[in-house]
Amino acid sequence: MIYVDYNGSSPLCQGARDAMLKAFECWGNPSSIHRAGREASGLLEKARDQVASSLGVTSQEVVFTSGGSEANTLALLGSHLLVGNGFRLLTSKVEHSSSRETVTLLQKLGAQVTFARVLPTGALDLEDFEKQVRTQKPHLVSLMTANNETGVQFPIEAVGRICQEHGALLHTDAIQSFGKGEGFPWANADYVSVSAHKVHGPKGCGALIVRKGRALIPIHYGGSQEIKRRGGTHNLIGICGFGGACADLSSPDLAPLRDHFEKRLTESLEGISIQGLGADRLSNTSNIRFHGIGSEVLLSVLDLEGICVSAGSACSSGSLLPSAVLVEMGLTPTEAKECLRFSWGRYSNRTEVDTVADTVISQVQRIRSRKK
Ligand SMILES: Cc1ncc(COP(=O)(O)O)c(C=O)c1O
Repeated sequence: MIYVDYNGSSPLCQGARDAMLKAFECWGNPSSIHRAGREASGLLEKARDQVASSLGVTSQEVVFTSGGSEANTLALLGSHLLVGNGFRLLTSKVEHSSSRETVTLLQKLGAQVTFARVLPTGALDLEDFEKQVRTQKPHLVSLMTANNETGVQFPIEAVGRICQEHGALLHTDAIQSFGKGEGFPWANADYVSVSAHKVHGPKGCGALIVRKGRALIPIHYGGSQEIKRRGGTHNLIGICGFGGACADLSSPDLAPLRDHFEKRLTESLEGISIQGLGADRLSNTSNIRFHGIGSEVLLSVLDLEGICVSAGSACSSGSLLPSAVLVEMGLTPTEAKECLRFSWGRYSNRTEVDTVADTVISQVQRIRSRKK
């Protein structure tokens, strides 16, 4: 099997595996004050420190959640509940479905939502964004650091500066960006969402970073865990795995592999286009449209050849709806249904890239020749 879907999920790394095995032996409740509880809370706090230092934040700023989707929901709904009536939110239509669907709920609850303009490359129109922040004075801006489907990155540091100038708070979904490059582009955001399984940790665990002095109303109740920001007994094994993954983080530059793959395809095939070309993209992601070929056809053929790719975001696969992200970038629904996402990762290598390129080229040629 060749795995080319690292944006969908990533294989468990050794650091995560070891930390989880240790946590299996420790079954106390981290909130209990007896010895077994203290042992568990020792592991919990170690994981919190590991997650915090890999993100460049303090341990008190880490709120563990059940994953990235919950972190996005907590940031958006929790901010809305804090402000109440008249909550003004500025976001985009290319966010992950967990943000987009929460935004739909907020609109039903009476929030005033406006959408930042996204260019056909998927990049943010920063000038227009600045104007919108200035004129609409949102309480919260929510924009992702990097897009899961195209890899296109938003200039989140500049976005943060504009928000600070105009007194808006910033939430960024950094789930795809975290672990894929150097530095902390989310450093001046007020709320940051991350997810363990995108950085070689376990599924079902993530965090919302709530910067010092920033508040929100919790959406889970019943306990004073996470300094009353997220009630519920901790998923200790998941959290320890997340901590272990963060301590074992490596961010290889995958641009040479990605560029080699795109070059091979564009040199050999007519009628293909790369989404987000010309925009600032993550080094691991290629979203490619194979004109005239439904993505589910090519995806299945590649699957039979042992190659795992995605037809958009994993969360919407299985549904035949075109990707909302690609439609927002100007593709027609039919065109959007002809796109496949190839996302490389830590264990990818040049041999795999060549095998995938050879297979895609021959299968696309075969499918097209059968259509004639
Ligand atoms: C950009 C982005 N946000 C949010 C999520 C949801 O994260 P999780 O799978 O941990 O719920 C994903 C997962 O694909 C994602 O890519």
